[in-house]
Amino acid sequence: MNLVMNIDKRELLTDLSDLVRDDFPILRGDIRGQQLVYLDNAATTQKPLQVLDTIDRYYRQHNANVHRGVHTLSQEATDQFEEARRIVARYINASSESEIVFVRGCTEGVNLVASTYGRANIGKADEVLISAMEHHSNIVPWQMLCETVGARLRVIPMNEQGELLLDEYRSLLNDRTKIVALVHVSNSLGTVNPVKEVIEAAHERGIPVLLDGAQAMAHESVNVQELDVDFYTISGHKVFAPTGIGALYAKKNHLENMPPYHGGGEMIRSVTFEKTTYAEPPAKFEAGTPNISGAIALGAALSYVEKIGKERIAEWERELLRYGTERLSQVEGLKLIGTASRKASILSFTLDYAHSHDIGTILDGEGIAVRTGHHCTQPVMQFFGLSATTRASLALYNSKEDIDRLVEGLEKVKEIFA
Ligand code: ALA
Repeated sequence: MNLVMNIDKRELLTDLSDLVRDDFPILRGDIRGQQLVYLDNAATTQKPLQVLDTIDRYYRQHNANVHRGVHTLSQEATDQFEEARRIVARYINASSESEIVFVRGCTEGVNLVASTYGRANIGKADEVLISAMEHHSNIVPWQMLCETVGARLRVIPMNEQGELLLDEYRSLLNDRTKIVALVHVSNSLGTVNPVKEVIEAAHERGIPVLLDGAQAMAHESVNVQELDVDFYTISGHKVFAPTGIGALYAKKNHLENMPPYHGGGEMIRSVTFEKTTYAEPPAKFEAGTPNISGAIALGAALSYVEKIGKERIAEWERELLRYGTERLSQVEGLKLIGTASRKASILSFTLDYAHSHDIGTILDGEGIAVRTGHHCTQPVMQFFGLSATTRASLALYNSKEDIDRLVEGLEKVKEIFA
């Protein structure tokens, strides 16, 4: 593994994809006889050798259950698992690793907050405020809570560019608002929301804020203390880690006051048939044997990103977004959906002569992977009067040549349909 050597060379070069591509073995592969162009990073990212080797090494050399054994392997596994928690805390600048709860991903993080904080603090006639561009995972858990407790779900509107209407947001905040739950970066539009302003306005009224960080982690520098956010959810697989692992950041006082989520081993202090007392956070929210290898691999993935440099990645992705926007805008009949002034490297679009599923299938024939459909944001599609878009979502290993291949693929679509 020559990552460290690569990083030194990176200082001199601007095309990040040249430097990191070899770290991702899957990108060397062919699809339907063509060199793979992977543009579906918002759905899931590819995994570097750093992460693959960490998983392999863990199972070959250290596998044991955590927090349970005095034997050497159990201590090694526990040390690595807890080190991963410290890496997550460092990555988002949490004040303590005890504010990091390992969960399966953003979906579980939001469900945890809705079911624990939500049930304890939100009641009849209260209001939960989300936005018009939420992923289903930041809509449905709140809807379920509202149905159970008799609360009302309210929605911050957006404009045609896919930007939140902040004046409308401020006027929606009121004494009944008990939480604001908002996506940091939209998965279907690419909008980077003005989360600092959103949080400040909510906090002026003492309302806590949850941010869904699924799409932000690989692209934005996230600093939870600077944001002063109450809850922040992370999906590992969107930031080069495996599926099935993620983290919930929550301020210490929230974690201390929230009732537990799942009951079982690990989350208890003592159990009798009469009464159970609970462990301190984060253990209180981590019932059962956790995804140990996943958490350790998440730590490896975040360390990988840190070594390359978050600002450097952001800079390269800005350049890719600029280039991609320019190239796609020249494609006849193509309309970009999501044109916010602050965007992450997500290019959603429609072609006026072809359905997105046909576009996706033809592109696949050219070795190009994009996502087509509603992207788990049906209300966003309804807002734009669409059933689906085609989405190219870029990551640090993508190149301008990848975008050129996409544009060539779209020419093929045109030959077939127009
Ligand atoms: N939420 C993921 C996406 O945007 C799956 O594709």
